[in-house]
Amino acid sequence: MRTDIVHIGAGELTYEIRNIVNLGEHLQKLGIKTYWENIGDPVAKGEKIPQWMKDIVGDCVQDNSSYGYSPTRGVLATREYIAAQTNKRGGVQITPNDILFFNGLGDAISKIFGFLKRTARVVVPTPSYTTHSSAEAAHAGDRPVTYRLDPNNHWYPDLDDLEKRIKYNPAVSGILIINPDNPTGAVYPESILRGMVALAKKYDLFIICDEVYMNIVYNGQSTLPLSDIIGDVPAIAMRGLSKEMPWPGGRCGWIEVYNGHLDPLFEKYVNSILNAKMMEVCSTTLPQIVLPKLLSHPEYDVYLQERIDRYERCSNIAYDCLKDVDGVMVNRSNGAFYMSVVFEEGRLTNNQTLAIENVEVREHIEGLVNQDGVSPDKRFVYYMLGATGVCTVPLTSFATDLQGFRSTLLERDEETFTKIFQIIADSIKQYLAS
Ligand SMILES: Cc1ncc(COP(=O)(O)O)c(C=O)c1O
Repeated sequence: MRTDIVHIGAGELTYEIRNIVNLGEHLQKLGIKTYWENIGDPVAKGEKIPQWMKDIVGDCVQDNSSYGYSPTRGVLATREYIAAQTNKRGGVQITPNDILFFNGLGDAISKIFGFLKRTARVVVPTPSYTTHSSAEAAHAGDRPVTYRLDPNNHWYPDLDDLEKRIKYNPAVSGILIINPDNPTGAVYPESILRGMVALAKKYDLFIICDEVYMNIVYNGQSTLPLSDIIGDVPAIAMRGLSKEMPWPGGRCGWIEVYNGHLDPLFEKYVNSILNAKMMEVCSTTLPQIVLPKLLSHPEYDVYLQERIDRYERCSNIAYDCLKDVDGVMVNRSNGAFYMSVVFEEGRLTNNQTLAIENVEVREHIEGLVNQDGVSPDKRFVYYMLGATGVCTVPLTSFATDLQGFRSTLLERDEETFTKIFQIIADSIKQYLAS
């Protein structure tokens, strides 16, 4: 090329959650039975969409308007419905114009970080859901600025660390919260959330709060949406249908802007996101039309609760399988449908292996893990995939130096799920002893 055409942030865009699928598929061709625990798609893991949901979508498909463009902000009746739901909680009050729809939160995330001034940084959690941390890092063309989630304290945000990151880095203008969290499965108590809002207020920052898993909380835990406690701090909450309905292929998510008019710079920034969306015309119309009908259906809560109960059982099965395994640290997941396991410091080396009978598979895995720059946890994850077919994601791909892996809790068959976590426990033991 005559000139360099590569974006300054291109190096920050990696998505191991899907990258590892290539390896898993290759191993499948070599005869390995694969247990996909890498991707947070309940439908891919066999979730059966209830007939009443399909009927609502089916009826809507008969309506010509569902084939047209929708208003840039989103279908008005749907925004009215969402605003009323938020307002009736009694916290911050919004209007339908404070809501903006996207083609899934992935779209929202890339616009929200993409239209932030390059030199302005949003401090993101570590570990972090990669789409957020990579989009933020790519917008700045630099490594993400992170605050610690503490595996020794239920994966809660370390507020002292967060304050230091803000205080000593004047470029930080916002805080990202993911609650309930991916990849840790943590659910933040009110006190932690209030502490984060207080820091935003103290340092004149805005908050982005990803609440896509807000209604998937279990093990007797509870939390609050940001709207309940935000007070007068400028903020953006993110919600969507992907995980809850679940309809990840519908590509439907939205943001709710809180206190959008209280700060002129924040107002201008939010407007730039709306303008960017306007250039794209609008987001997917069909899921927006069906949204109020789905969420207000009498069976909705019953169906969601049935899923939540299953995730709770799986979180406990996973925790019980791993809690006494020497060399790793685990926390019981209390929300979303992921679990992160951390190897104790110094326990992983570059010589550990798992026995792989199939010669072709063994040679393939050995070729991959012996390349330069392969992190110790990726080495473990690749060996476990080659030896057992269990496909997880290395924790270091979630913007953290902690060595470990993330597994989903989505396998619907509890016997298979238990077997998978027994395999994981045995793999850790064998690998660390090798
Ligand atoms: C915390 C979090 N936010 C957003 C998303 C993306 O959601 P969407 O399907 O709406 O793009 C995910 C997907 O895994 C997620 O875990």
